[in-house]
Amino acid sequence: MLFKPFVVFSLLSALTAIASPTWSALEEYEASLPRKTSKHQGTRPKIQISPHKPWSPLPTSPSRNRNCYVKSHNDGESDDSAYILDAINKCNNGGHVIFSQGTKYVIGTALNLTYLNHIDLDIQGYIQFTNDTDYWQAHAFSQVFQNVTTFFQLGGNDVNVYGGGTIDGNGQVWYDLYASNIYILRPVLFGTIGLHSGSISNLNLRYSPQYYNFVANSSNVVFSNISISGYSKSNNTAKNTDGWDTYRSSNIVIQNSVINNGDDCVSFKPNSTDILVQNLHCNGSHGISVGSLGQYVGEVDIVENVYVYNISMFNASDGARIKVWPGSPSELSGDLQGGGGSGRVNNITYDTMSISNVDYAIEITQCYGQKNLTLCNAFPSSLTISNVTMSNVHGTTSAKFDPITGYVVCSSETACSDIKLEGIAVVSPSGVENEFTCGDVDESLLQGIDCTTTNKGSN
Ligand SMILES: *[C@@H]1O[C@H](CO)[C@@H](O)[C@H](O)[C@H]1NC(C)=O
Ligand SMILES: *[C@@H]1O[C@H](CO)[C@@H](O)[C@H](O)[C@H]1NC(C)=O
Ligand SMILES: *[C@@H]1O[C@H](CO)[C@@H](O)[C@H](O)[C@H]1NC(C)=O
Ligand SMILES: *[C@@H]1O[C@H](CO)[C@@H](O)[C@H](O)[C@H]1NC(C)=O
Ligand SMILES: *[C@@H]1O[C@H](CO)[C@@H](O)[C@H](O)[C@H]1NC(C)=O
Ligand SMILES: *[C@@H]1O[C@H](CO)[C@@H](O)[C@H](O)[C@H]1NC(C)=O
Ligand SMILES: *[C@@H]1O[C@H](CO)[C@@H](O)[C@H](O)[C@H]1NC(C)=O
Ligand SMILES: *[C@@H]1O[C@H](CO)[C@@H](O)[C@H](O)[C@H]1NC(C)=O
Ligand SMILES: *[C@@H]1O[C@H](CO)[C@@H](O)[C@H](O)[C@H]1NC(C)=O
Ligand SMILES: *[C@@H]1O[C@H](CO)[C@@H](O)[C@H](O)[C@H]1NC(C)=O
Ligand SMILES: *[C@@H]1O[C@H](CO)[C@@H](O)[C@H](O)[C@H]1NC(C)=O
Ligand SMILES: *[C@@H]1O[C@H](CO)[C@@H](O)[C@H](O)[C@H]1NC(C)=O
Repeated sequence: MLFKPFVVFSLLSALTAIASPTWSALEEYEASLPRKTSKHQGTRPKIQISPHKPWSPLPTSPSRNRNCYVKSHNDGESDDSAYILDAINKCNNGGHVIFSQGTKYVIGTALNLTYLNHIDLDIQGYIQFTNDTDYWQAHAFSQVFQNVTTFFQLGGNDVNVYGGGTIDGNGQVWYDLYASNIYILRPVLFGTIGLHSGSISNLNLRYSPQYYNFVANSSNVVFSNISISGYSKSNNTAKNTDGWDTYRSSNIVIQNSVINNGDDCVSFKPNSTDILVQNLHCNGSHGISVGSLGQYVGEVDIVENVYVYNISMFNASDGARIKVWPGSPSELSGDLQGGGGSGRVNNITYDTMSISNVDYAIEITQCYGQKNLTLCNAFPSSLTISNVTMSNVHGTTSAKFDPITGYVVCSSETACSDIKLEGIAVVSPSGVENEFTCGDVDESLLQGIDCTTTNKGSN
């Protein structure tokens, strides 16, 4: 009796596989499923935060006392949001919600889940957001910062999300729509908003319309063993698919994950403090980035106490990066402009990074968005950069700036202090090692770096 529903499901999925010639994320996920009954209670993974410890210990999470299985239409198109809310509401305050293995859940309603309390969401199945771009543009949650919107917002206290399942943003319709209009608002796949104490682990995130994770107003949260991937199948590339963006958040850990994307692998936006990032494999990104900061006049942006350890960076524009807008308005593109904000970037460490086919191994700029360095220097940034150490960065850059392999340019002599580079061994394709563009920095702290060019060729 128990295996009967599974037989029906696998027949159905085999038929779907024959009908559709493309290897979808759902099929990929189904192929990886163990051949057993679909309804079972998973156990919460024990997450070791290692080798470095978080800035403050994370609170322990008590075990849960009841199970709620989420029902599904399982037809691939009917909205299962009401079933999801029903299970979550029944199991909030101490329970364990299970999205069953081998089951597809469709979400066509923006879910405001900021009230969660002592709950586990065990996502063993496959969740996909609908492709209704009109609905999502009108209903996705607006997150104030940079026009960010999210499909759902998950917050509250003591929440663990895990299960080995997949969350799919149905990004293709968005990549194609964005190509015709850059002003459309594409939702972020996973919104962690106002979460205090929790973990997000063992999940596959696929085809996000925009960033994969936006973490705002949150504290004491660990992300571990997350797999991120999703490429456009048309000629319209998937843009701004950052792995994580943190904002107004403190004591966040991001570790042991594989990120295949097309923008920042991890980015620390305004007011990110006490952040640990370790053991990531990033492919195709814009690096691990502080910023961009200082984008808005009158705002004070602080990024302080960040430790980034053991990153493998492949096919990227940057490895370790700090990007700050200059003191006067500048424009990078129609939908990305700014400059003139204040604040500080302080106590930032990048330790151990291997790079391969990366344009700049290290890039520190206070002239973000301003290609004309005369103009950048005329209106220096009022957002200071201090106490930065980048060490043990090794590997090979791409041909893009050959023979230059790094860029450290501040906008005035006083806007930056104590920027230290040590143990850097980065080689350009033509075999030149550690040749950097430098400007307005204390070159005596850049150990082993050859500052051959000064103040030339920002991007
Ligand atoms: C959107 O999804 C529906 C239901 O799954 C499907 O019938 C339709 O073809 C999709 N539209 C696009 C533009 O992909
Ligand atoms: C989301 O729910 C919270 C309560 O949990 C409420 O305060 C907030 O206004 C809701 N936000 C939206 C956009 O509905
Ligand atoms: C964070 O909290 C502040 C203050 O309560 C609120 O104004 C803001 O909308 C919240 N969300 C984000 C993304 O900042
Ligand atoms: C937000 O969207 C508005 C309207 O589309 C646009 O004018 C503005 O430049 C956007 N702001 C940012 C920071 O992208
Ligand atoms: C990472 O998550 C996947 C499922 O997404 C799971 O199969 C794997 O065992 C997890 N790895 C660790 C080390 O927990
Ligand atoms: C994609 O671009 C290539 C090269 O420009 C072109 O040959 C091809 O027809 C395009 N495909 C689509 C689907 O537009
Ligand atoms: C560095 O990260 C990789 C995964 O990207 C992992 O396999 C390796 O064990 C980590 N090394 C240390 C010293 O933690
Ligand atoms: C990077 O991603 C590309 C697909 O865009 C893939 O072919 C390649 O194997 C990946 N490389 C690494 C090192 O992950
Ligand atoms: C960031 O923190 C500074 C200092 O506390 C504060 O002035 C600023 O308003 C905060 N910015 C945001 C976006 O919360
Ligand atoms: C700066 O960061 C280091 C870790 O890189 C930490 O040990 C130290 O306490 C931090 N300094 C301050 C003043 O918080
Ligand atoms: C940079 O700006 C200055 C001052 O406006 C101008 O004189 C100069 O021509 C500009 N340089 C370039 C390369 O556009
Ligand atoms: C740099 O770090 C030192 C030692 O922790 C601290 O005293 C100093 O205030 C920091 N610099 C800035 C500009 O914050």
